[in-house]
Amino acid sequence: MLLRASTRPEWTAAVLADLDAFLLDHAANERKASASALALVAHYPDRVDLVRRCIDLAVEELEHFRAVHRWIAARRLTLGADTKSEYLRRLSAGFRDGSEPYFLDRLLTAAIVEARGCERFGLLAGALPDGELREFYRELARSEVRHHETYLSLAHAYFDAAEAQRRLGELLDAEARLIEALPLRSALY
Ligand SMILES: [Fe+2]
Ligand SMILES: [Fe+2]
Repeated sequence: MLLRASTRPEWTAAVLADLDAFLLDHAANERKASASALALVAHYPDRVDLVRRCIDLAVEELEHFRAVHRWIAARRLTLGADTKSEYLRRLSAGFRDGSEPYFLDRLLTAAIVEARGCERFGLLAGALPDGELREFYRELARSEVRHHETYLSLAHAYFDAAEAQRRLGELLDAEARLIEALPLRSALY
């Protein structure tokens, strides 16, 4: 596993204790993941490889949003107002200035966030009782691995491999400290 800190077992317990809250937060994250892939397309329109792969990503994340929304509707819940994730806020606050360092940090951070999503969907799938929801999260964990690899391979396509690896290590250390410091709640991040 690429991540340098594992999610505490208490996280899974917090999610199972309030699955409704988790589903609502999860849906918002899928919608935002789609929007961030499109934001990359808008900001880097001349990077042909990035545009093609981020369009695919945006579509897939939007499909995830639709699928989570089906679970939400089936439980007679309604989507709520956006809440800020301290985790995502602090990760993006660490982006460096300058167009190239900023671009690299964005790609690598997206890769890390996808890896964390993969880890957590897998934990949840392992804790849920047998059934469709468990299968749903198992399938999502597989998608997030692919998304993680997409962002990582884009970082390697546009940057020197040694520089990308060095910066990835720094960002992974920062993410590990963050994941250990933040309080647990029934939310993806
Ligand atoms: Fe997703
Ligand atoms: Fe994803």
